[in-house]
Amino acid sequence: DDHDHHDGDDDHELRVSKIRDGTVIDHVHGGQALNVLAILGIDGSEGEEVSVGMNVPSDRLARKDIVKVEGRELSQDEVDVLSLIAPDATINIVREYDVIEKHRVERPDVVEGVLSCPNTGCITTGDEPVTSRFSVLEDGVRCSYCETIVRDEIAGLIDT
Ligand code: CTP
Ligand code: ZN
Repeated sequence: DDHDHHDGDDDHELRVSKIRDGTVIDHVHGGQALNVLAILGIDGSEGEEVSVGMNVPSDRLARKDIVKVEGRELSQDEVDVLSLIAPDATINIVREYDVIEKHRVERPDVVEGVLSCPNTGCITTGDEPVTSRFSVLEDGVRCSYCETIVRDEIAGLIDT
């Protein structure tokens, strides 16, 4: 256990306030927090109460990002997609200030309707609506229609 270590978000050194009810996405790799928000479709325009810590010290990762969304419990589908850009994230469901559920993200085999194919000739990017579909590889994603593989720029494919 890591009781003697201090993530930058512990009680001694809390960078971002605790939330009452909602979801804490913890141990996001440094620099990915905004992509996490993009995947969740959160841009602040709906009045969502969201706190973000970026590049805070962590013992599990050199630096981590943390995203706290008040009043929203993420679905398994949302969590699955998050795994593409935050493979080591911990999802904490909070109710009445207590963490009532904690789980690691799992990478799905396939993601549908979430990413858009970068290939302009792909059937999924044409005028006829065809839902995008990517298989999840060890180190990227592959369009099921045109076989285009994307490795480093997955966040850039997120359909917003
Ligand atoms: N948290 C929060 N609001 C709460 C409860 C917890 O923002 N009401 C945050 C904590 O600050 C922490 C994360 O949710 O970043 C997980 O909380 P907890 O399980 O209590 O912390 P740890 O045991 O340090 O988590 P882990 O072992 O996953 O690192
Ligand atoms: Zn394609």
